[in-house]
Amino acid sequence: MDEDHDSLQRLFFAIWPSDAERRVLVQWRDGLRRGGGRAVPARNVHLTLAFAGDVDAATRDCLEREAARVHGEAFELTLDRAGVFRRGLLWAGPSECPAELSALAEALERVLVACGVRPDTRPFLPHVTLVRNTRGRLPEGAAPGGVWQTDQFCLVRSRPGRPYEVLRRYPLGTPAAGLLSEHSGSVE
Ligand code: 2AM
Repeated sequence: MDEDHDSLQRLFFAIWPSDAERRVLVQWRDGLRRGGGRAVPARNVHLTLAFAGDVDAATRDCLEREAARVHGEAFELTLDRAGVFRRGLLWAGPSECPAELSALAEALERVLVACGVRPDTRPFLPHVTLVRNTRGRLPEGAAPGGVWQTDQFCLVRSRPGRPYEVLRRYPLGTPAAGLLSEHSGSVE
């Protein structure tokens, strides 16, 4: 019996780093002088691409189906910037958003729309949340460091009091593979 079938599920698309990649960020975060707040558990560290919110089973099916049709490209994500915003949310992110990352976020926004989900109207600001409700400040010039080799994106479920659950993973192609599929697409 699936208790999930009738109830709403809170879902989002994200980049899910490897354990080694998240360890770099978590160690940097833990080395800062504490300003209180809730540290995000290491296993939950991620970068959100598109937030769907609470959806029913049919919408989840649609999101899974439409996401499988997204053909994004793999990229490297350099986390060389950090900041504190929104009532004490300490984040790390790229100082320059790779074109592949913005293209992926835009494609997933279109997936939300195709499935009847209203996307966030705020501009996409790529960030990895590391602490919530901190009163601490970042030391001048503090930079997290670390590079994520991003060759997939994920559909993730959020449930109160539980670790995030990766429901599905979708591969991102290399530029060469993209060219090939473009080519094979033309003869279909
Ligand atoms: P945040 O870390 O900046 O809060 C799961 O909640 C993920 O979805 C988090 O990465 C969160 O970003 C992101 N998210 C984006 N919009 C959200 C919203 N309206 N409510 C909750 N989470 C949101």
